[in-house]
Amino acid sequence: MHDAPGRTCPLSYRYAPGAFAGAPALTADTLWIAGGLYGNRYALQALLEAYGTEPGDKALVFNGDFHWFDAEAAEFELIDEAVAGFRSIRGNVETEIAAPADGAGCGCAYPDWVGEATVVHSNAIIDRLRKAALASGRNLGELAALPMTLVAEIGGERVGIVHGDAESLAGWNFSQEVLGTPQGAAAAERALVRSGVKVFASSHTCLAVLKAFPGGRAIINNGAAGMPNFRGERYGIATRISVRPARTSRYGARLGRLHVDAMALAYDYAAWEKRFVELWPAGSDAHRSYFERMRSGPAFERAA
Ligand SMILES: [Fe+2]
Repeated sequence: MHDAPGRTCPLSYRYAPGAFAGAPALTADTLWIAGGLYGNRYALQALLEAYGTEPGDKALVFNGDFHWFDAEAAEFELIDEAVAGFRSIRGNVETEIAAPADGAGCGCAYPDWVGEATVVHSNAIIDRLRKAALASGRNLGELAALPMTLVAEIGGERVGIVHGDAESLAGWNFSQEVLGTPQGAAAAERALVRSGVKVFASSHTCLAVLKAFPGGRAIINNGAAGMPNFRGERYGIATRISVRPARTSRYGARLGRLHVDAMALAYDYAAWEKRFVELWPAGSDAHRSYFERMRSGPAFERAA
């Protein structure tokens, strides 16, 4: 099963040794990180509005999978152009649009607990999205050239920005499922220490996580900026890491000098549902895999 498209993790998804060493790519007092926008133009609007009200020295990084449901040329172009105005790293979606690895399918590297129907639908979505990307006027070479990791320095602390986990662009080691086990938590702590970062900010697994470790370390996975993250709640989440406290945060932690928070992106749900159904009508692959989550959230309760 692990050789099937959508199940594999291509070798090219693994970072080179020392990916988190070296000078930081950016320094700021406040960093926003948005993964999993998934082509939701209304979540993009909510994100840019929320980020726009942030005072002081700041940066916004899209950490991958900003495309997904935007599988029409004009829609793809709108998302791609807006994201290109900021720093970003590529997720498996951008990688499989612009530089497909042989047999990777959607490049999600889905683990066994994700059902087969989801994998089949995801592979079909990436095929249609790739066609839309090619039909758009965007330069896909720029997507292919995006880095897989980025280090930021916030308040003198190093923050590792990834799409998947500490080893791979599509790794699941920063998922709720893995971090919830003693072995998974211990491995994540070792990865933080080994990488020399205080915080890893990830996405990819589609479920939000904030896990603190001794020594002021943490892993924060924003889940999805463009989809609901908790049962019965209809907002996306972005990560905020700052030397200043957040004015409104869904949940967060103080780690030494850093405030690490999950910020709600309350996008126009009705407008997005209408647009989503135009792009992916009932019976289509994305509708079958995602409509229920879009409307009702995942089967995952918010703990705090
Ligand atoms: Fe992903």
